[in-house]
Amino acid sequence: MSQTEKFEFTPDRLALYKEYLTRYDDIDSALLPTLHLAQEQNGWLSDSVVAYISELMGLPSIRIKEVISFYDMLYDQPVGRNIVHVCTNITCSMFGGREIYSGLLKHFETGYLTPTRDGRISIQKMECLGACEQAPCMRVNNDYVGNIDLQSAISKLEELP
Ligand code: FES
Repeated sequence: MSQTEKFEFTPDRLALYKEYLTRYDDIDSALLPTLHLAQEQNGWLSDSVVAYISELMGLPSIRIKEVISFYDMLYDQPVGRNIVHVCTNITCSMFGGREIYSGLLKHFETGYLTPTRDGRISIQKMECLGACEQAPCMRVNNDYVGNIDLQSAISKLEELP
């Protein structure tokens, strides 16, 4: 979806949003789950998504953008259909994590978070993914893939739809 294309929650997501509001004492606390809900629907958090959430929640757009820019897993730019997090923190780096990250960017001819030309994949380097015992590791969407090397990582990503 483009930056300006009008956005609104689907009826089931709007119902889920209203359910979120019952879980928190104040509206600010519901912002993060609401942004995840919007990103799940739209793929990323465009200006029109921010405008919609701003109106829906009665929060200033600038406040919402501040939150988006703070969190690595909220995207203010279009991303690929599959998100790949490659750990480049200390344990994974000792086992080649940084080289795997740069090797993947080179192989898929892309840059940090930039979708591949076919729109399939965005690759993002991350701090510790909390799976150091599997170093070096990456997360492909919601699945952890551990003890990788560049070739096995490439093969895994080539399988993605
Ligand atoms: S350092 Fe990579 S998962 Fe912890």
